[in-house]
Order: sequence, then C-alpha cells, then structure tokens
Amino acid sequence: MERRKRILTGDTPTGKLHLGHYVGTLENRVKLQSEYETYILLANTHAFAKDPGKPEDIFKNTLEDALDNLAVGLDPEKASLVLESQIPEIFELYTYFGMLASHNRILRNPTVKDEIKYKGLGEHVSFGFVGYPLLQAADILSIKADLVPVGDDQVPHLEQTREVARRFNELYGETFPVPEALVGRVARLAGTDGKAKMSKSLGNVIYLSDSHDEVKNKVMMMFTDPTRLRSTDPGHIEGNPVFIYHDAFNTNKEEVEDLKERYLNGKVGDIEVKEKLVKALNQFLDPIRERRAKYENDPDKVLEIIQSGTEKASLLAAETLSEVREKLKLRLL
Ligand code: TRP
Repeated sequence: MERRKRILTGDTPTGKLHLGHYVGTLENRVKLQSEYETYILLANTHAFAKDPGKPEDIFKNTLEDALDNLAVGLDPEKASLVLESQIPEIFELYTYFGMLASHNRILRNPTVKDEIKYKGLGEHVSFGFVGYPLLQAADILSIKADLVPVGDDQVPHLEQTREVARRFNELYGETFPVPEALVGRVARLAGTDGKAKMSKSLGNVIYLSDSHDEVKNKVMMMFTDPTRLRSTDPGHIEGNPVFIYHDAFNTNKEEVEDLKERYLNGKVGDIEVKEKLVKALNQFLDPIRERRAKYENDPDKVLEIIQSGTEKASLLAAETLSEVREKLKLRLL
C-alpha cells in the first residue's frame, strides 16, 4: 500500500516568527496539513549553531516557535510538533551524512556563506555552523519526508539534502525519497526598511505576535518611495515595501488597486496608504493573536502537544535508522 506523503519543515528557534516566515513557509504548512502527514520541527539543536552560549534563550524561543506555529492555524490533530533534540536518530544520521558530503561542497552553500557574512561570524564560525545544512538533511530524511515548505533562503539546503539522499541511495540501495522544496507565494519578503529581506538581525521585522500599537508604529515608520518628496508627486510602486505588504496581506484588492492608481498619479499621501495597511495587517493578525492567546494561557497543553508529536516522529526515525544501520552493515548480529 502506498503511504501518505509526508511534510517535514521547521524553524530554528532564534526568536518570534514574523510576516516573512508567514508568506515563505507557514501559510503552506497550514494549507497542506490535511493533505500531507505533517511534521513541524522545533529545530532547537540548530539554534546552537547560531549562538551556543544561551541555552535558556534557546529553550524559551523553542516554546515561542511552537506557539507561533499553533497560532497561525496548525492543528495538532493533523500536524505534529517535534522537538529535534529528543530524536537521537537525527544526530546519528547526521554523522553518516557527514561522510557522504564533500568538504568543498559544504563550504559552497550560498545561504551559509551569506549568514557568516551578515552575522559577522568571520573566522570564529563554528564547524557545526558550516555543517548545519547536513543536520537539516538528517532532520528531513530521518522521517523520509517528501516535501519541505520553506522560504527562498532555504533552497540551497534542500539541494544539499537531495544530493545526500541520492548519494546514499546510490551507495547503499534505494532508501530515501529525494525531497522537493516548496517555496511560498512571496519567496522573500522585504523588510520595513525596504531592504531585500525581513530579518530579525536587520531589525526590520513585523512579528506575528506584535500588538496593534506595535504594528501601527512600525508601519508609520516604514520606508516608501525615497524619490517622492511631496504627496502630489507621482510615486513608484515597484520595490516600495508599503505596496509589497498591501499586495501580500490586504484582502481588499479593490482598495489596493485604487491606492496604487492614486499613488502613481500623485493623488494620495503616504499616511493614507499606511493607515490602510495598518488596518489590513491587524485584520490579518487578529485571528493569529487570538489563537496565540488561547495557547499561551494553557502552557501544559502546548507541552503535551510537543510531547506527543515528538513521540510520533520518533517511531518513524527509529524505523529509518534501523534500515540505515542494516544497509551500512553496522550490526554485529
Ligand atoms: N534551517 C531552517 C531555518 O533556519 C530551520 C530548519 C531546521 C529546517 N531543520 C529543518 C527547515 C528541516 C526545514 C526542514 O529556518
């Protein structure tokens, strides 16, 4: 009998999730949870690659990550939340994958190179940091996932995952699916400052858990069209973050078209465009805030959800690793 297709994706818990995560991956997780057997990884061990010195923060952020995932509408009956550190099979698989991937290939991953640069890691970058895409491959393949909804920046990691799966299959016989990446409808959401990427380390972020006032303050401070000096000047839409967000989050398409039209012709000021964006964003965020509050008030329930999700994934990982050890002739008996 053909098994149900599986999704595994997840987040490195470095802080709260934001609008960029939503359009990049969260939306697809929610949309596909009924169709696929879905596993959402709280990748707490990954977080040590980025900053090993703060285990309390990583723990706290892991719970925030769980809350954010539940808040956007992942249903624990359909999607399992999985705590990475509780699945030792992942780390065993990571060891074998480390033997299959070439050293030069590891050093060529463009996302890792970018991160080393903008996080200023330089020569101090850890061995684990450079190798984290292989840990990610082990996450994904430990449960033999078929599909991985991710933001655009994760695509190189998926490429590495696919390579390692193929290599393993070639050497030891068909074992792993070669998983596909699924990138969201906005591959890379601009920051509130107009920079190409919304990112916590760039400080240009609107969080899913921001209050009405926080959203308002951030939007009112947003960059728009730097070439437009007066509201009677014709403005530019393309690359203008206020309109990028209207397109991504305002469900009133007529309003968006009207604003664009007037903006192009110098017939609307930034303030009106921004006030309408605040309203649209708050409308989008309200149900997310409501679900978040419900789970925040029941922390035991959240722990229970993570516990049972982790147990479910553990069973699959145990099965996979027993097959892997068999194929690698690691058993005495
Ligand atoms: N590297 C991903 C990020 O930083 C998080 C992650 C860890 C992940 N393991 C994964 C994503 C497995 C998809 C699949 O966002």
